[in-house]
Amino acid sequence: MSKRVLITAGAGGIGRVIAAGYAAQGATVCVCDQDAAAIAALDDTIKGACVDVTDETALDAWLHASMDAMGGCDVLINNAGIAGQAGQIEDLDLAQWKGCLAVNLDAQMIACRAIAPVMKRQRAGVITNISSTSGLFGVPFRAPYAAAKWAVIGFTKTIATELGPHGIRCNAICPGAVKGARIDRVLSAEAGARGVTADDVYTDYASGSSLRRFAEPQEIADLCVYLSSDGAKFISGQVIAVDGNTETYHSA
Ligand SMILES: NC(=O)c1ccc[n+]([C@@H]2O[C@H](COP(=O)([O-])OP(=O)(O)OC[C@H]3O[C@@H](n4cnc5c(N)ncnc54)[C@H](O)[C@@H]3O)[C@@H](O)[C@H]2O)c1
Repeated sequence: MSKRVLITAGAGGIGRVIAAGYAAQGATVCVCDQDAAAIAALDDTIKGACVDVTDETALDAWLHASMDAMGGCDVLINNAGIAGQAGQIEDLDLAQWKGCLAVNLDAQMIACRAIAPVMKRQRAGVITNISSTSGLFGVPFRAPYAAAKWAVIGFTKTIATELGPHGIRCNAICPGAVKGARIDRVLSAEAGARGVTADDVYTDYASGSSLRRFAEPQEIADLCVYLSSDGAKFISGQVIAVDGNTETYHSA
């Protein structure tokens, strides 16, 4: 039977590449995303629904409807994440802090809560939570994002412990900076602020990694697909960076 896969924020960025990676393997793939245009642009190998993951009722409804349609769920990729407010601790706004945690962390809990009973009945399932290298380092001026991504790791370790006896595996992936529109915006903004080119900023950032470059979205997708394959059937509770080995940290 082909794998039944659910991906949050799967119509754009890294999530779309993850979705395509599973679809290429013949999986049945359902994604949600808040971007209706991006959903409309998905090809017919991926079933999309317009859902904001911070809307608990809507996220729950999508998860249950998708699992009903697929007759279960083999893989959940908790991918949704936003950068949140950047600023000094004394300037942080509580509503924005909560908004950042809602997308990066709360949505992962809501999805795992809905899927756990189904995976327990199956006595099988794989959950992959997307964290970040910001969940491995202290990140000045990015407290909301870093706190959320560290929390994702604590959540992952806990879920792996709790669900492991039921045959369910759970791991976290920590991408470093990943090529794409999001990081291009970060590079351009910093280049403008420093009076240098975006390429200069890229070189600065990339020099922080032993492999001296950013990740390709496909490299994150490949690890997701591997973690839910038979080859990874004894891998759970792990936190795996796809970052070329970060030596000096730049936030992503
Ligand atoms: N891009 C990077 O360099 C990088 C680095 C480390 C970790 N990550 C993590 O990888 C994951 C994917 O990041 P990305 O760069 O693809 O993000 P992105 O900004 O490109 O967004 C991807 C998708 O998320 C959707 N989305 C945003 N908020 C949503 C919400 N509330 N409800 C539903 N959908 C929503 C967007 O519509 C978009 O289609 C995130 O968890 C992010 O924190 C990214």
